[in-house]
Amino acid sequence: MASPARRLVRSDPQDDAQAAFARDVIAGLTAARKSIPAKYFYDAEGSRLFEAITELPEYYPTRTETRILKDNGAAIVRHFPTGATLVEFGSGSSVKIRIVLAAADKLAVYVPVDISAEFLAAEAASLQKDFPRLSVLPVAADFTKPFVLPAAAVKRPRVGFFPGSTIGNFEPRQAENFLRHAARMLGRDSTLIVGVDLVKDTHILHAAYNDAGGVTARFNLNLLARINRDLGADFDVDGFAHRAIYDDKLGRIEMHLVSRRRQRASVCRRVIEFEPGERIHTENSYKYTLANFSSLARQAGWTPLARWTDSGEYFSVHALALQGAPR
Ligand code: SAH
Ligand code: AVI
Repeated sequence: MASPARRLVRSDPQDDAQAAFARDVIAGLTAARKSIPAKYFYDAEGSRLFEAITELPEYYPTRTETRILKDNGAAIVRHFPTGATLVEFGSGSSVKIRIVLAAADKLAVYVPVDISAEFLAAEAASLQKDFPRLSVLPVAADFTKPFVLPAAAVKRPRVGFFPGSTIGNFEPRQAENFLRHAARMLGRDSTLIVGVDLVKDTHILHAAYNDAGGVTARFNLNLLARINRDLGADFDVDGFAHRAIYDDKLGRIEMHLVSRRRQRASVCRRVIEFEPGERIHTENSYKYTLANFSSLARQAGWTPLARWTDSGEYFSVHALALQGAPR
């Protein structure tokens, strides 16, 4: 039986993670077009706000993907070898793995990987309590970089799980690179299950990222509050507004923080100036067609095996196979 409280493995020491955060923020805010990488949304408060987003009536992706996983659980887990390790990239609250586990208890080890270390530790402990026969071995890491899998996970056949359309937060070229990297992490003959949000009516997309309750706005603005908390900056968070727009040529939602006035902020001894209306680009969320995503997966060396959608084709779940060794 797995022990109930496993130690969280951190891929990078906390000081290194903090230094990388400061470096990336300064690089992004001193560029001609200001930006901050979306992965920095997720401190403990950001993870909590993301969970609140998943419950919004306007935010269709979570409930739609959950429905697809529930309706097709048996067909999905057919692709899992018995006794496998499942590695989840960006596990968040680990809600979706609970649905997968309800479909078939064929998994021996679950490795949730997330950058939000505190949130990850709490969610992993709760899952371990509910599934005592499963070994839950959390790894706090940036999943875009190589990380060390726990020894108990390595000896087993591996399945990857990347739900939530987190893949949509990459530029398509980065998404292809991520799929190659996942192939190397999972190894020969592995399977990867990926959730992918689909192109749809602009109004539905717009509402999902501009909810009436302002939760997405708080999620976006928490990035500045986090920079104040963790890097000792002095952003006036109320001096910025949330903006999310759909660019139908690029097929992506863009999120920005817009300066409400001329202002400056001091970050790590640098003074950053903002013009009225100037934006910080904080996130892209790409929407795919079924054919485009399958071709991206092929390009990255994966063979599409099966895919499932809801009746409205709002969201999709794809089973991909690596035939032989990663390229
Ligand atoms: N899989 C969950 C959560 C999706 S939200 C779901 O489907 O609902 C995206 C998750 O990915 C967050 O938990 C966030 O902390 C994590 N994340 C984002 N970028 C990351 C990165 N570069 N490395 C590791 N985790 C990351
Ligand atoms: C995690 N990711 C897939 C979410 C998305 O929809 O792109 C993050 C998010 N941003 C705003 N709302 C939700």
